[in-house]
Amino acid sequence: MEMDEHTFVMVKPDGVSRGLIGEVISRLERKGLRLERIRMLTITEEMARHHYAEHLERPFFPELLDFICSGPVVAMDWSGPGAIATAREVMGATDPRKAERGTIRGDLGQEVTQNIVHGSDGPESAKRELALFFD
Ligand code: RTP
Ligand code: MG
Repeated sequence: MEMDEHTFVMVKPDGVSRGLIGEVISRLERKGLRLERIRMLTITEEMARHHYAEHLERPFFPELLDFICSGPVVAMDWSGPGAIATAREVMGATDPRKAERGTIRGDLGQEVTQNIVHGSDGPESAKRELALFFD
């Protein structure tokens, strides 16, 4: 049997303020992933710099930093076979205008910064992000 994998998924401040926490959880649950841990918090600037370390030098980083610290987020640990890729499929492409219908971003989002959810992009980032938010 395939080993279960863990991934870090976060409902971003826009998703929380728009009342989409349940929608995000529901879509991941219906796909068959299992919710292992969950917490609500407001991200500090220091956490954001760690979480988005790979984007520190990008032109969009200041806007991303402002946004991600602008209100509470819901941080989650999800597990299942291929959970990292599966969660990203359920989320859809980064830019909601390009994301396919049937995905969270494609159905519910309108612009690239405020794109409702985050999901780890690989095993290393999943490990780092889960440690950052849960240890
Ligand atoms: P995430 O890390 O949040 O799950 O999103 P992602 O892998 O699909 O996209 P990534 O390239 O890692 O970008 C991280 C977040 O930065 C914002 N972004 N803004 N203005 C822009 O061009 C731009 N590009 C990315 C988005 O909030 C994106 O999710
Ligand atoms: Mg990413």
